[in-house]
Amino acid sequence: MTNEILLRDVNESDLPIFYEQQLDPDATKMAAFPSRDREAFMAHWAKIMADDSVILKSILFDGQVAGNIVCWEQAGEREVGYWIGKEFWGKGIATKALSEFLNHVKIRPLYAHVAKHNIGSRRVLEKCGFKMFGMELFLDTQGENRAEEYVLKLNE
Ligand SMILES: CC(C)(COP(=O)(O)OP(=O)(O)OC[C@H]1O[C@@H](n2cnc3c(N)ncnc32)[C@H](O)[C@@H]1OP(=O)(O)O)[C@@H](O)C(=O)NCCC(=O)NCCS
Repeated sequence: MTNEILLRDVNESDLPIFYEQQLDPDATKMAAFPSRDREAFMAHWAKIMADDSVILKSILFDGQVAGNIVCWEQAGEREVGYWIGKEFWGKGIATKALSEFLNHVKIRPLYAHVAKHNIGSRRVLEKCGFKMFGMELFLDTQGENRAEEYVLKLNE
């Protein structure tokens, strides 16, 4: 085991793994993002994998699928997001994977939205050079309450 972290294009066979990773209640709480059921999840991924404007990478840790990174356009801005399976947390994987991603994807500025309580994700972004840009309100996982999220921006 060399703790090697690699990015590669997403394969169909990665999807059931991503699906399980996004079901974890600690992860959904952290991200303040609801999990999708299998049908909704597969439909969402089929859509984004068919969209040339979306950049998708699987994150491999010692050859295992540890998570994913996605970059997409929203309201004329480029957003980045990532999700690491819980058994892989705390190994520096998100930081290494995002910094590798940013070496290849040179679109700037790049934005990321992060729930105010998601200290880990904010730290990942700041370690990769993102700076605090502002705050926005979003609907929480039940779509009922308004919660706050930070917007971070990478200029260079
Ligand atoms: C947030 C997440 C991406 C972090 O991934 P990770 O691979 O564990 O992160 P890293 O190991 O690269 O950690 C980076 C830094 O954040 C810190 N960190 C990570 N998780 C943390 C947590 N739960 N609380 C506090 N700090 C945390 C680490 O200590 C490290 O800081 P350091 O270098 O100063 O020690 C991962 O927990 C995850 O995917 N969560 C669910 C989905 C999610 O929140 N996605 C992001 C949506 S914006």
